[in-house]
Amino acid sequence: MRIDKFEFAFTFNDVILLPGKTEVEPSNVDLTTRIGNIDLSIPILSSPMDTVTEEEMAIAMARMGGLGILHRNCSVEEQVSMAKAVKRAESFIIRDVITVSPEDSVEEARRLMREHGISGLPVIVGKKLVGIVTRRDVYFAENGNLLVKDIMTKDPITVGPEITPQEARKIMARYKIEKLPVVSESGELIGLVTAKDVFYRESHPFATRDEEGRLRVGAAISPFDIDRAKTLAPYVDVLVTDVAHFHNENVISATKRIIDEVEVPVIAGNIGTYEAAEEAITRLDIIGLRVGIGSGSICTTGEVTGVAAPTLYAVASASEAVRKYSKDVAIIADGGVRGPGEAAKAFALGADAVMLGYALAGTKESPGSTMMIGGKMYKIYRGMGSPSARSKRFAIDRYSKPSKDIAEGIEGLVPYRGDVTTVVDRFVAGLKAAFGYVGAANINEMKSKARIALISHSGMSEIAPHDVKPLEKISD
Ligand code: XMP
Repeated sequence: MRIDKFEFAFTFNDVILLPGKTEVEPSNVDLTTRIGNIDLSIPILSSPMDTVTEEEMAIAMARMGGLGILHRNCSVEEQVSMAKAVKRAESFIIRDVITVSPEDSVEEARRLMREHGISGLPVIVGKKLVGIVTRRDVYFAENGNLLVKDIMTKDPITVGPEITPQEARKIMARYKIEKLPVVSESGELIGLVTAKDVFYRESHPFATRDEEGRLRVGAAISPFDIDRAKTLAPYVDVLVTDVAHFHNENVISATKRIIDEVEVPVIAGNIGTYEAAEEAITRLDIIGLRVGIGSGSICTTGEVTGVAAPTLYAVASASEAVRKYSKDVAIIADGGVRGPGEAAKAFALGADAVMLGYALAGTKESPGSTMMIGGKMYKIYRGMGSPSARSKRFAIDRYSKPSKDIAEGIEGLVPYRGDVTTVVDRFVAGLKAAFGYVGAANINEMKSKARIALISHSGMSEIAPHDVKPLEKISD
């Protein structure tokens, strides 16, 4: 190959956005985006990594208007239980209601409430609703031999399946009750509306919800594990292939089979080139592409193998393919998005959303406990191809084929950052500021208006704080 055929695989650190004439104030920037049938108020997905996304992170992400993708470094039962927890966290009408029978003991009702963290149980005979028992009833039942039928409220106020959140709120306020069983015409229990869910709905108007008002959630899968995909399907809104190198005939064919046999939309990845994007979007009916190979903060793939498609280069290449074929496939920039600056550059070059690992690691909602070292709090963040993640057998198929015996990720500590909402709010504020400087009112305008310039390595250090030692580092 001639040297003038070399491509320039530019990275986040090689470019800057130039300021443009603007009429856009950051507060007016609209960051909504769409991935297939999923509307997001903020264009952020959390990475399917076992130190980033389990149910707590997925719930928080969906409440903020983003989307959590549950990791797969666990058994399918554990992954399903996480997905169910997200779906149960906030549904306007809960469908899989936990119930008791009138003949159950009060102790049994108490145990169910404690185990499931709930404060009321409809009482049923067969499927017919005969009463309701709440934590207050149980609390005041001093006699341990009592049965549910002795303490339950008989003939509770009920509603039909057509109930709206506004009507439910009114009924709850009028009767000062917190639970409304939903019954069919024949009196069979078909759901439950709780005050908590009505309240959450009002306090999170921008949350990412499905048609039934439940929070949306995605789950990572191996393309070769169709059983896992089928088991997860009833509980998730999107399946995300979790492969380091998607542009592989076996992987593409296996994903095609999943798409054909499982009725949940699929995001495919990771890919890094125009050709990979072209093949994925022309051969597969997918709603999104995870784009970027080797840029992740914990990745060693590029270093170990000498092969990488840095996220920004990959985004530009993939979005060119999507444009050329006029496909409705969202580009998700994945890896190396440390903050709003990298995200803004990704949007300018064609991304529709970003996927964050490091930027969300170390928060209260990320899995894992905090540890105190030298008076400071930390949490662990690890690559899914790191030795410790690979030692849980579930991660092995992503990072051990074809590289068999090499680790492709590292494990490290990140400072504890507190609530993920604060972290994401700051991220979104920075992103809106970037849009303001460019003069882009939304993501489409960012793609069309942004002017991008190359910058030297020495220039990059000039546009970061320099010469002055930041106060917070003086104590280090
Ligand atoms: P950030 O930079 O947000 O990147 O921390 C997260 C993304 O990195 C990918 N990932 C890995 N890549 N080895 C890799 O080469 C790994 O061990 C590894 N673990 C995660 C993944 O795409 C994630 O979303």
